[in-house]
Amino acid sequence: MSSPAKLRYGDKEFELPVVVGTENETALDISKLRAESGLITLDEGYVNTGAVASSITFLDGEAGILRYRGYPVEVVADQCDFLETSYLLIYGTLPTQKQLEEFRCSIQHHTMLHEDMKSFYNGVPRDAHPMAILSSVVGALSTFYQDSLNPHDSRQVEISIHRLLAKLPTIAAYSFKKSVGQPFIYPRNNLPYCENFLHMMFAVPCEDYEVDPDFVRALELLLIVHADHEQNCSTSTVRMVGSSNANLFASISAGICALWGPLHGGANEACVNMLEQIIADGGDVKKYVAMAKDKKSGFRLMGFGHRVYKNYDPRAKLIKHQCDRLLAKLSLKDPLFDVAQELEQVALSDPYFIEKKLYPNVDFYSGVIYRAIGIPVQMFTVLFAMGRLPGWIAHWVEMQRSETTRICRPRQVYVGEKLRPFVSVKDRG
Ligand code: CMC
Repeated sequence: MSSPAKLRYGDKEFELPVVVGTENETALDISKLRAESGLITLDEGYVNTGAVASSITFLDGEAGILRYRGYPVEVVADQCDFLETSYLLIYGTLPTQKQLEEFRCSIQHHTMLHEDMKSFYNGVPRDAHPMAILSSVVGALSTFYQDSLNPHDSRQVEISIHRLLAKLPTIAAYSFKKSVGQPFIYPRNNLPYCENFLHMMFAVPCEDYEVDPDFVRALELLLIVHADHEQNCSTSTVRMVGSSNANLFASISAGICALWGPLHGGANEACVNMLEQIIADGGDVKKYVAMAKDKKSGFRLMGFGHRVYKNYDPRAKLIKHQCDRLLAKLSLKDPLFDVAQELEQVALSDPYFIEKKLYPNVDFYSGVIYRAIGIPVQMFTVLFAMGRLPGWIAHWVEMQRSETTRICRPRQVYVGEKLRPFVSVKDRG
């Protein structure tokens, strides 16, 4: 136990308890500060605010380390598939063989959507963004499964978790089928998770569809590296919504909306659009690096930079390696991959990016793999959501089970008008 920090303000001194995590991250506990001093802390964008003590994921942005429940992401990606990773994140330990089989079996048998849910898809335009569909349909799960909404009933929570993990790929694949005007393909419960998703995406009733094992491996890796990233924008949203005791489906639906933005999960779509634009514009990578450095241009290198990583994002390393492997295996040459690599090289040797410690992030190369698999660009962020789902669930569960959880309710420094007299409409100038 470290001795408390002291804060002097005016002629008074206040003690702030010091909290130290297992990896020696050190925080000042300011929860009593307002009651004792009248002061609040101000930190727009939560740049330096720890909102919670969590035991799910450890991230050291300076050293480029990411661990799920203590296991390096590189090891998890090498040894586990996505469902085993999900189990690890949600339940906190690696499953025994029996636990894993039961988990897989349960997920594989909850994949179908209620038939009435299909009518949701008729209510949206053909060109609706699949992220909008995903968040709406996930929110709508709470209308179909009213028997499992109580966040304080562990059996109901367990059923909701399994339903969500099982049905999200089906919901996602249906949103794609809607956009291309093809019939929905029912899930096949004899297929493992990723195979089943690819089958629902690409099979059609009039011919056989063979799932390519290389695509499956690449997809497994992508989902695993996206599976959790501690208190990011969407996960914090899930926690924020869940802190009001909103049900799991409602909380995850909100997380999907948060993920959609181009500064967060939407960056993978924005990144591929950017790379395509660079190619269409003659492939002059240096021009775009110069634009990214010019604040007035309003342009940023998508897939570059991170709030926490001030080093190479370990997820980007794994994905780049997988890109190389997959393209070589398929004997594919994707000009986007070439431009991305050139862009990375130019940016990483530029003083602006070096000084600001801006490196490729998880979204920089993921689009190249999605393209190789045949996933259309509008679905990229949907795939991110499928990957992030176990992380969102793990955080929601951790929050619900914690005895210290309170409703999330930040404070503010009011800078608006002081009290002023009301002027009736006839007297306004
Ligand atoms: N291109 C050019 N300049 C950048 C970039 C970029 N991609 N990212 C940050 N900067 C500059 C920024 O202009 C600022 O400069 P200055 O200090 O002179 O004002 C400095 O670097 C710090 O940036 P910031 O916006 O204050 O940093 P942040 O922590 O608030 O934002 C970020 C992090 C990820 C939103 C930002 O780096 C960004 O917009 N990147 C592009 C979008 C992107 O790839 N997002 C995916 C993030 S990883 C997936 C996920 O988990 O969501």
